[in-house]
Amino acid sequence: MYWLVGIVCFVGAVLAMMLYNNIRERKREATSTVLHIAEIDETTVDPAEWGKNFPRQYDGYMRTADNASARFKWSEGRPPDDAVHADVQPQSSASAKKAPSKLDGDSRLKTIFNGYAFAIDYRERRGHAFMLFDQRETERVKQKPQPGACLNCHASNVVAYREVGLKNGAPGALTDPLLSEEGQKQLFAGFSAVNKMTYNDATHMVKHPVSCLDCHDPKSMALRVTRPAFIEGIANLAKSTDPVPHLPSVEQWRKGDRKQDYNPNVLASRQEMRSMACAQCHVEYHFAGDDKRLTFPWHNGLKAEQMEKHYDDIGWSDWTHKDSGAKVIKAQHPEFELWSQGIHARSGVSCADCHMPYMREGAMKFTDHQVQTPMAHVNRSCQTCHNYTETEIKSRVDQIQSRSKAALDRAEIAVVDLIKAIQAASAAGATDEELKTARALQRKAQWRADLMNAENSMGFHAPAEFLRITGEAIDYARQGQVEVAKLGKGK
Ligand code: HEC
Ligand code: HEC
Ligand code: HEC
Ligand code: HEC
Ligand code: HEC
Repeated sequence: MYWLVGIVCFVGAVLAMMLYNNIRERKREATSTVLHIAEIDETTVDPAEWGKNFPRQYDGYMRTADNASARFKWSEGRPPDDAVHADVQPQSSASAKKAPSKLDGDSRLKTIFNGYAFAIDYRERRGHAFMLFDQRETERVKQKPQPGACLNCHASNVVAYREVGLKNGAPGALTDPLLSEEGQKQLFAGFSAVNKMTYNDATHMVKHPVSCLDCHDPKSMALRVTRPAFIEGIANLAKSTDPVPHLPSVEQWRKGDRKQDYNPNVLASRQEMRSMACAQCHVEYHFAGDDKRLTFPWHNGLKAEQMEKHYDDIGWSDWTHKDSGAKVIKAQHPEFELWSQGIHARSGVSCADCHMPYMREGAMKFTDHQVQTPMAHVNRSCQTCHNYTETEIKSRVDQIQSRSKAALDRAEIAVVDLIKAIQAASAAGATDEELKTARALQRKAQWRADLMNAENSMGFHAPAEFLRITGEAIDYARQGQVEVAKLGKGK
């Protein structure tokens, strides 16, 4: 009996000690999330080096090669009402050599982009791990000459820019902090020089997709923005009168003396940075002038018609449409601009809140660096704020996306109808002068439909704005057809 009590007491004591140790271990883990193994500084481009100190973030970063598929993929041509039943699966495209084609899923795009490189090759987006590979492999680069400016959003390029900047006479050394005066001079000098290089020359200077150094300060790990085009773009936006209640530091700057340009690295809050880090790339852009300077058209504001006004003011068009002869604009991934018009931005919800939610491992809480669709982890992305079941949340997203898709389909059909009408009238002898108004209306309609197509949330980031823009697209396209009909030429 005594023996038995003795053994039980002993085992109990051992278990208690193990528990105590475990708790102590967890507490220690929670206080020191940083392992100081590798020395990282402003020249450390390779994410694997950073990964030695931050293995959890590195692990997520690497897994962007194996993202879940978004609910809306053009190539699947999935009818909207099926979306409710289709669950998020790992991307089958991840193992394939190239992502599936958007042109196959939406054949209207071939007509809409006729005469431009996007009619040759236009694919689904996928995880960050693929960004450099996909840019090098696209037929848009292989068949058409592209500038070094393309590199801005597809590689870890901070060090490459600074090296070119130093070669071109910028002051200081590569080890200067990026945000120091010298560091910024090197960065901007490199940016100006690389933009106008050939893509082929530029891409040989880089090795990695966007990496730790492009979003983080190597000493403090604080977020920072590293893309000159964004620093210039947001400074221009600050000078406009477009209300930006979702960017309080910009509103604050506007009330000041404005002697120095708005600078996000100095003025933005941490929460704003959690969106601005993404807004360096997930935005509309063009390459301005002979220098091919990467420029964001935010001089009048972030809305579709405000960006359009900038393009009209500078007389910009990307190409002349092959069928209709209209001078048109190609839109690109305006996630930041559309998010800016929505209720989440207005409520202070950042890109990272949904696309890089926190996760837990033991007592450790850290940021999920597998940047992907939030629908892969609704519990961490949405249920932190919305007290509904996962099924209910998914079905709300489906409802928004299905409505958006239906409106977008109509907008694209209307644009194609207008292109065909102008083409027929032109073939029947209508002059450039006679077709002027119809072509101008095509430019407006096409810009709007394309902008919403190129945005990658299928309306989720700002549902009402999406419907407003597609509605305008339909109206402008049908007005254009009325103009053509007045000529009485063609069918
Ligand atoms: C409130 C949550 C939320 C916020 C905030 C948010 N998004 Fe999204 N985003 C979504 C949802 C939901 C989708 C649709 C996902 C799908 O179709 O599977 C999406 C889709 C996307 C996609 C396409 C996803 C894919 O897997 O192909 C990109 C890119 C994107 N968002 C970028 C951004 C950027 C950049 C910001 C900030 C400017 C942002 N998002 C802000 C919820 C959010
Ligand atoms: C340096 C530019 C750059 C930055 C910064 C950037 N992205 Fe991306 N992102 C891209 C590119 C390029 C792709 C498409 C890669 C491809 O298809 O090969 C992409 C793809 C995505 C996708 C689609 C993933 C999928 O599986 O389909 C999401 C979601 C996304 N980004 C969200 C974000 C968010 C959120 C941020 C900010 C935390 C961010 N991105 C920052 C350039 C960037
Ligand atoms: C301002 C940032 C930015 C610039 C500049 C940029 N891209 Fe991208 N690119 C992105 C983002 C963000 C995505 C992912 C979203 C999408 O696919 O809509 C992407 C996706 C892509 C893709 C995959 C999907 C597709 O379109 O087939 C290719 C290829 C690509 N870009 C090539 C290029 C080329 C070529 C250039 C230069 C002409 C360029 N990019 C310039 C940000 C940029
Ligand atoms: C596209 C931008 C982006 C890239 C690239 C990126 N991060 Fe982050 N990282 C973030 C964001 C956003 C946060 C959240 C920061 C905050 O809330 O202040 C973050 C947070 C962190 C943190 C703070 C702790 C935590 O988990 O919240 C560490 C450490 C970190 N990242 C390490 C890395 C490492 C290592 C890499 C490269 C393998 C990397 N990051 C690449 C955007 C990025
Ligand atoms: C940080 C908090 C937060 C997160 C995370 C968040 N939301 Fe929201 N969401 C809000 C707020 C705040 C509103 C505005 C409603 C209000 O003010 O009551 C909102 C509104 C909405 C609406 C109504 C939209 C509209 O335009 O009318 C939907 C749908 C929604 N959220 C879905 C989602 C989904 C899906 C996710 C995850 C991908 C998500 N939310 C993540 C805070 C959040």
